[in-house]
Amino acid sequence: MTAPKKLFIKTYGCQMNVYDSERMAEALGGQGYTEAKSADEADMILLNTCHIREKAAEKVYSELGRFKKLKAQKPDLKIGVAGCVAQAEGQEIMRRQPLVDLVVGPQSYHRLPEMEEKAREGEKVLDTDFPEEDKFEKLKRRPKSKRGPTAFLTVQEGCDKFCAFCVVPYTRGAEVSRPADRILTEARDLVERGVREITLLGQNVNAYHGAGANGDLTLAQLIWELDKVEGLERIRFTTSHPNDMMDDLIEAHGTCKKLMPYLHLPVQAGSDKILKRMNRSHTAESYLRLIERIRAARPDILISGDFIVGFPEETEADFQATLDLVEEVKYGTAYSFKYSTRPGTPAAERPQVDPVEADDRLQRLQALLTRQQREIQDSMVGREVGVLFEKPGRQAGQMLGKSDYLHAVHVADCDRQAGDLARVRIVSSRTNSLAGELID
Ligand code: 5AD
Ligand code: SF4
Repeated sequence: MTAPKKLFIKTYGCQMNVYDSERMAEALGGQGYTEAKSADEADMILLNTCHIREKAAEKVYSELGRFKKLKAQKPDLKIGVAGCVAQAEGQEIMRRQPLVDLVVGPQSYHRLPEMEEKAREGEKVLDTDFPEEDKFEKLKRRPKSKRGPTAFLTVQEGCDKFCAFCVVPYTRGAEVSRPADRILTEARDLVERGVREITLLGQNVNAYHGAGANGDLTLAQLIWELDKVEGLERIRFTTSHPNDMMDDLIEAHGTCKKLMPYLHLPVQAGSDKILKRMNRSHTAESYLRLIERIRAARPDILISGDFIVGFPEETEADFQATLDLVEEVKYGTAYSFKYSTRPGTPAAERPQVDPVEADDRLQRLQALLTRQQREIQDSMVGREVGVLFEKPGRQAGQMLGKSDYLHAVHVADCDRQAGDLARVRIVSSRTNSLAGELID
């Protein structure tokens, strides 16, 4: 056993990185690392990075610059970069920022313990391979410590869709699904440790096709297997692609009680010309019909989306088509971004939209999305919803949780604990949360 050391991981980007950071912390736990509350007290700092947009990638370099002083005071401090920036710019990071000791791509986390040892011996280590072995299998089993009521569980990684703007197929590699039995074992283990809600993660989660005892399982089949896990109360999944929204998954939204009425289904744009140039392989119309079918199965489902404005050659009329699509769908929540050129992706070479124009479109889209979000949130007032409590609120006696629709809900004078599910009547809607009262 090695001497106790402290590890600080800073996570950027998507939920997949949140899950990976947990698993990296567990892998390094075997090397004697426990969690540091801040970078100042750490013996090792890991930045788990995101490469999806330029700003996200640049943040890494400015954050690394800030560690210079820390490293001067503490020469034994090891600094590592993980995640998608590591994958995309491994060598470049080492060259641009000599204080980095270790660079590890998202498919090589299971090799972290060896890499850490080498770094301790003063070596600079870089591993951005796409190895044959399954990193999840090679990673240590999760320790048996108690956990909060919600957890992420990665079931699928990578993407073969090659949207013209996106770096994911290059940083996370080809689409791979984990075998169903390993996911079920991990899920049961999480439930034993107090988890009540699991969010299945994948860049293309609804393309899931992991091996089962009698052939590959679809995501819906995996959800039905999870439905049998006693003590697991809620199932969610993200992120889905419209083209992989299979009939059995749509149906499960109507029939599986544990599957929550929330679906993140990015469309990116509303103009068929732009969708084609984005290589999305669906049209605005096919997306709208799909939403109709999903709502037929589960009328109250809350739809969430992602949008990119200012994609190369987007005209004002194309942008208007995005606004029209948003008006038709009515999103409960959405994420919208200005197109960011990603080196190596097909769209990077094309004529770019004037950045001032793109900013203006982003503001207009966000205003519309915020209004819709607000309307849907306000429409919850008077309704009865399920709430899974996660933690006490700031005021005495108050508990905070999430509704079935993923709205933050707080309940005053609440005698329930974290991990309890309750029926709650929504009494008012605030800027970013709902207030409710217990029914039973
Ligand atoms: N520029 C802007 N937004 C992007 N996204 C992915 N790549 C880019 C890019 N180059 C957005 C998409 C995706 C979300 C995770 O990030 O909307 O769904
Ligand atoms: Fe990127 Fe498109 Fe794959 Fe989503 S579907 S990860 S946006 S390439």
